[in-house]
Order: sequence, then structure tokens, then C-alpha cells
Amino acid sequence: MKNIVVLVSGGGTNLQALIDAEKRGDIKGGKITCVISSKADAYALERAKQNGIKTVTLVRKDFPDVHEYSKAMLETLKNEHADLVVYAGFMTILDETVCRAYPNKMMNVHPALIPSFCGKGFYGLHVHEAVLEKGVKVTGATVHFVTEVCDGGPIILQDTVPVLNGDTPEILQKRVMENVEWKILPKAVALFCEDKIRVENGRAYVDE
Ligand code: GAR
Repeated sequence: MKNIVVLVSGGGTNLQALIDAEKRGDIKGGKITCVISSKADAYALERAKQNGIKTVTLVRKDFPDVHEYSKAMLETLKNEHADLVVYAGFMTILDETVCRAYPNKMMNVHPALIPSFCGKGFYGLHVHEAVLEKGVKVTGATVHFVTEVCDGGPIILQDTVPVLNGDTPEILQKRVMENVEWKILPKAVALFCEDKIRVENGRAYVDE
């Protein structure tokens, strides 16, 4: 059984999608064993507690710099014997020691079609604002492995939704979450736990 550790900072709807998938039996070979939050008041923590999942809170401002924060994160991940680390709306920067310790064992869900609308400054609602500003007609979400390059790691799964006249960032965010994020993140986690994701020459392949 692989130990899945989920990193959160906010509402935790993606965490909920993972919890629901696990409950349905869709994540064979894996179990969410710990949720780590970078915010003490994240509702995601409540969701974890309601489901009997261990929680740890690591607040960035309690540490002098990003390196000390990353050290604490690494220590926690090691203590939890993490086999897979999932960024599910985790908004705090870690240094490269963390992703180097978990090569192709750390995944992130990003609310756009990478390589568009990603990288520094593209997170949460800002992504959907930029999508509407540009006027693209299709958007979506991406699950990818985490590397030292922000949003630049091997792409595991993507799917799309249309951008419609009259969309606001909030409406678009909801469409992307409901139709894509809450589906592809649990699917990618399930595939990982069944050893169905291969990475070769920087590209991820799914063996279904
Ligand atoms: C999600 O839309 C996720 O894709 C995004 O933040 C939201 C978190 O929602 N993540 C990023 O923008 C990371 N770059 P949630 O807390 O309800 O899962």
C-alpha cells in the first residue's frame, strides 16, 4: 500500500475529490495517510479531520526562510513515509531539495492547459482571469510531476472545457474544477498507485 501525503493551502475541494475516490475504492494500492497544510485556517484541514486523516500544519512565516521551511517539510514527509506527495492547491514555495527527494513521486494539479497560463504568478483565480483576458476558447487543467521548474514537470493527464461568453473567473474556475480537476487528479493518483505511469526522457506515459 502506497502512503499518499496531500499538501494543501485552501478550501481543499481537490483533497475532497481524492478522499471520495479512495472511499469509492477507485484508488487501489494507495491510502491518504496525512494532509499537510501551509495555512492554519485552511478548510482542507477540516475535511481531513472529518475523514480521520492525520493533519500537520506548517506555516511559512513560522520559519526564517524557504530553506528552513523546506527542511521541515522534508522531515515531515520522511516521518510520514510518503510514497506519493500530491500538491492539491498547495500555494507555498519549497526549495529544490524537496522535489529532488521525490523524483516523479510528487504531483501537482494546475488549473490550466500547461504550457499555457502557468509558471510564476499563475495560481488560483489569477489563472482564470488571464485565460479570460486572452480570450482563448478552450481551457482545462493539468496534472504533472513536480520538478525544479515551476509547472514544468512531465505532464501526466490533461482535459479541457470550453470558455463561454459571459464567464467570470469564478464561473470558469468552477467549470474547470468540477469537470476536470476533480476527475483527473484522483485518476492520476490511482494510476500512480497501480504503477501505470512511466517517465522516459522527461515525458510521462500512461500504460492503461
Ligand atoms: C485549484 O483550482 C488548483 O488547481 C489551484 O488552486 C485551487 C485549489 O482549490 N492550484 C494552483 O493554482 C496551483 N498553481 P482547492 O483547495 O479547493 O483544491
